Amino acid sequence: MNKAPYIWMDGEFVSWDEAKVHILTHTLHYGNGVFEGTRAYQTEKGLAIFKLREHTKRLLNSAKITLIKPNFDLETLEKAQVELLQKNKFKGNVYLRPLIYLGYGVMGLYHAKAPVNTAIAAWEWGTYLGEEGLEKGIKVKISSFVRSSVKSTMGKAKAAANYLNSQMAKSEAVDCGYEEALLLDSEGFIAEGSGECFFIVRDGVLISPPNDTSLESITQGMVIE
Ligand SMILES: Cc1ncc(COP(=O)(O)O)c(C=O)c1O
Repeated sequence: MNKAPYIWMDGEFVSWDEAKVHILTHTLHYGNGVFEGTRAYQTEKGLAIFKLREHTKRLLNSAKITLIKPNFDLETLEKAQVELLQKNKFKGNVYLRPLIYLGYGVMGLYHAKAPVNTAIAAWEWGTYLGEEGLEKGIKVKISSFVRSSVKSTMGKAKAAANYLNSQMAKSEAVDCGYEEALLLDSEGFIAEGSGECFFIVRDGVLISPPNDTSLESITQGMVIE
């Protein structure tokens, strides 16, 4: 992984190697934490964050869905992301990973009294499915795993726990010789990829499923717009 000098943790810039948590961090055990994956691209005017506001809003909305009270507001989180990029002086394209998590001090399932922490990491990271994948395309397997339901596992939240579903689907696909998994909902309709939204061109028309059982994709929203 491409280390960067700093990670933002609860309002402080901490050096990458010192950005640590206690082993009894609540989220580590029960999976209730929410995050984002936001890209920043080098432009003639410097690094530009793609849809910063939309991603930060979705982060806070995911927290709301999973009953976490964020310890920072929208404006502070946006500012922190911009400052983190400035401070790290990146040369290439960057991936930003804000994470709101339940920290150390309370164990047990009832999480309401667990402390809430926020961290933002950023590092230089290439395209998700590789440059070759972009040029030549990839093989996608329809997964035997059903996309997490909105009613049982808060499927609309970009929550750490929901990525167990994605991980299993991805592993199954890779083990079977594919590069990515496409998940269907419990009715058998296409929901989304293990880590991305889905589009298909059929008879010259671009089609993408509704977000009833998938994350509300910012990329999908932008393409449709
Ligand atoms: C499960 C899942 N669905 C869809 C997406 C696409 O979302 P976006 O286009 O906002 O990055 C992602 C990526 O974050 C994802 O992890």
